[in-house]
Amino acid sequence: MLEIRGKKLRLVIDEERIKRRVKELALELERELGGGEPPVFIGLLKGSFIFLADLIRELSLPAVVDFMRVSSYGSGTESSGEVRILKEPELELKGKKVVLVDDILDTGLTLKRVKEYLLEKEPAVLKTCVLLDKKEARKVPFEADLVGFEVPNDFLVGYGLDWGELGRNLRGIYAVEL
Ligand code: PRP
Repeated sequence: MLEIRGKKLRLVIDEERIKRRVKELALELERELGGGEPPVFIGLLKGSFIFLADLIRELSLPAVVDFMRVSSYGSGTESSGEVRILKEPELELKGKKVVLVDDILDTGLTLKRVKEYLLEKEPAVLKTCVLLDKKEARKVPFEADLVGFEVPNDFLVGYGLDWGELGRNLRGIYAVEL
């Protein structure tokens, strides 16, 4: 039984299911974005780094990668509600096909804010792609264009998601039995 700081972890989505779903998402993105200039994939640090790495390696089209960092919830489990841009993308996005990638859509505050920010850069296309969607947790209306899995309102770790910075390197997605 896996544990973090004495709390048991319950497997929610195993590595193989994630892998299959990431391939499907990559195919969908290829259908939607193929042809023309390579799309720019923007990962939100830190949670997206593993999903983004796997997603772009499943693509059979050229892709460009950039990152953003926004203010996080710290090491607790609750949202403060405020989202600040801490690191802007480095690439020019005007007229580009942009895919905003994140590990989880929770309250919706982060992606809503980041999407608004990116739209100001005038991309030709802006898609949002999340691995996990915790629909029950929404505080603001927001839907991603591509979603890997809908998940219940558990505290999740693994595959990039952390609990107080631990658990990001787990290969599956687990619920922390708090
Ligand atoms: C998590 C996650 C999303 C955001 C989603 O990041 O990676 O970016 O929260 O939450 P929301 O929909 O409620 O806004 P976190 O702030 O924990 O930082 P991290 O990516 O560095 O782990």
